[in-house]
Amino acid sequence: MNSIRRDIRRPRPLQEAARRAAVIRRANRRAAGAVTPVRRAMSRRRSTFKAKAEAKEITFDQQIPAGCEVTAHREGLFHVFENLLDNDVKHSPRKRVIRLASKTREDGRMELSVEDQGPGIPKEVQNRVFERFFRVDVSRSREAGGTGLGLAIVKHLMDKMRGEVALTSEEGKGSVFTLILPKPSI
Ligand SMILES: Nc1ncnc2c1ncn2[C@@H]1O[C@H](COP(=O)(O)OP(=O)(O)OP(=O)(O)O)[C@@H](O)[C@H]1O
Ligand SMILES: [Mg+2]
Repeated sequence: MNSIRRDIRRPRPLQEAARRAAVIRRANRRAAGAVTPVRRAMSRRRSTFKAKAEAKEITFDQQIPAGCEVTAHREGLFHVFENLLDNDVKHSPRKRVIRLASKTREDGRMELSVEDQGPGIPKEVQNRVFERFFRVDVSRSREAGGTGLGLAIVKHLMDKMRGEVALTSEEGKGSVFTLILPKPSI
């Protein structure tokens, strides 16, 4: 339990916060609601986690159909996926699979899910992982090079896009991050 705490003493997170604040400012300036093809938003440019995934022999099970579209800000959605997939790759053991899926909800919105087979996140902190600088296990996260900003950015961007993000996770089994966004109207 001692390892579950905030760590705001190191200078690096603050520099990182400034750099990422620029991403948020850019996203804020643009309209939230453009028709965005999900798969293109995910692979728009070279992603930072890909080399790490290759080194750990982690594979992606891409189940999102090519025609899947949501109403979102494309760069914002790209950063959301970057942060979620970076976390999954960072925390998953070697040779695991990361699954990406989509479905239309009963309320007509799109649900996009990112599921890993990593260590999971304890129930008692699941509602805190979206706070800035919060890290579940400080020693493990330091080893993995985290600053605790990624999920706070995900939450902020999803709010801006009038979407939602939710987490379900079981320790020892893995985590599922679910994104809910409006579907483009025909
Ligand atoms: N897929 C995951 N599996 C297990 N733990 C996770 C996962 N995603 C996030 N976490 C936990 O939640 C914490 C917060 O994640 P967040 O992305 O905000 O920060 P970070 O990855 O440590 O740093 P940053 O994203 O700024 O590089 C992480 O430190 C980690 O402890
Ligand atoms: Mg992260």
